[in-house]
Amino acid sequence: MSKVTLSVIKADVGGFVGHSSVHQNLLAAAKDHLETRGKGLLIDFHVDHVGDDIELIMTHSLGVDNEDIHKLAWDAFLAATAEAKRLKLYGAGQDLLSDSFSGNIKGLGPGVAEMEFEERPSEPVIVFMADKTEPGAWNYPLYKMFADPFNTAGLVIDPKMHKGFDFEVHDLIEHKKVVFHCPEELYDLLVFIGAPGRYCVKSVYSRTLGEIAATSSTQRLNLMAGRYVGKDDPVLIVRCQSGMPAVGEALEPFSKPHIVAGWMRGSHHGPLMPCGAEQAIPTRFDGPPRVMAFGFQLSQGKLIGPQDFFADVAFDRARQIANEMADYFRSMGPFEPHRLGLEELEYTTMPEVLKKLAGRMEPIE
Ligand code: 13P
Ligand code: 13P
Ligand code: MG
Ligand code: MG
Repeated sequence: MSKVTLSVIKADVGGFVGHSSVHQNLLAAAKDHLETRGKGLLIDFHVDHVGDDIELIMTHSLGVDNEDIHKLAWDAFLAATAEAKRLKLYGAGQDLLSDSFSGNIKGLGPGVAEMEFEERPSEPVIVFMADKTEPGAWNYPLYKMFADPFNTAGLVIDPKMHKGFDFEVHDLIEHKKVVFHCPEELYDLLVFIGAPGRYCVKSVYSRTLGEIAATSSTQRLNLMAGRYVGKDDPVLIVRCQSGMPAVGEALEPFSKPHIVAGWMRGSHHGPLMPCGAEQAIPTRFDGPPRVMAFGFQLSQGKLIGPQDFFADVAFDRARQIANEMADYFRSMGPFEPHRLGLEELEYTTMPEVLKKLAGRMEPIE
């Protein structure tokens, strides 16, 4: 059987209005590009947005890191950028850090999550997409999905999950990676992924099936650009059922909003609010940070869907909790931990302020 590749590539190429959403012309431009230029390359695609980020969800048979697919996505973002410039949308071309494409879209700004696998007799997948946060935002839910038996009943009662999962963790500062075998290395894993600004779960593998179960985008735009250019509103793909978490087990971690970095100017912590596509337009203090979950059944690579999971009333209460958390966080104004810690700001606004004050900094006697 031939393998299918699921590629989710995303970028913010202009906000409508401010950083809240994506203008429909941009979505149309990206769709039109994939429709016309993707012929012969793509099996299927779906274009959507969460907040101000355009999400290209694509299937094909060319494997991960394929130059043609990455170029197709890059050019789709360029087409959307042209429209953003014409409409003078906010931050037009924001995430495109280069003037030219050079073989692989990674490192050029857009976020990339891709996995190649043999399509099972039934292949349910969920594409999670977030705005106003960073790749480390997936650490907590991935831990819950693949390592916490209080979240995922299958870890206890599904013989195909009982052996556990391997977590590939990336150090985004030192550019190193390590694989933790769980459950026996859970405590070691948590030492690292509890610090989501630096250590991110890149992928998760089933130890029983020897297959990829989840993968995320781990680009950090501000680290790549060396200055603040927005957070790296990340994406995550999770395969479900039959030895993987059930769909409901993959969604469950989002029923209790966790605290993520990336709200307002990429410089504040706040709750990650699960929401349906209709509600994925951050407003208050440019947030709170949002996450959407689109389910698809793959059928010979065709994307049957989407199913907009977080539109369900079962997540109303999570939204209510997130709003209450938002009130509480906002009351702290410019104080940590609402505002990010110095180490995080170091990559954003802090150097500019320090430079300005350099001449006035005196030693304490
Ligand atoms: P079904 O019996 O409907 O396949 O559901 C199994 C399951 O995993 C539900 O969580
Ligand atoms: P984006 O990273 O989604 O563009 O948001 C920028 C921001 O911080 C808005 O306050
Ligand atoms: Mg933006
Ligand atoms: Mg964004």
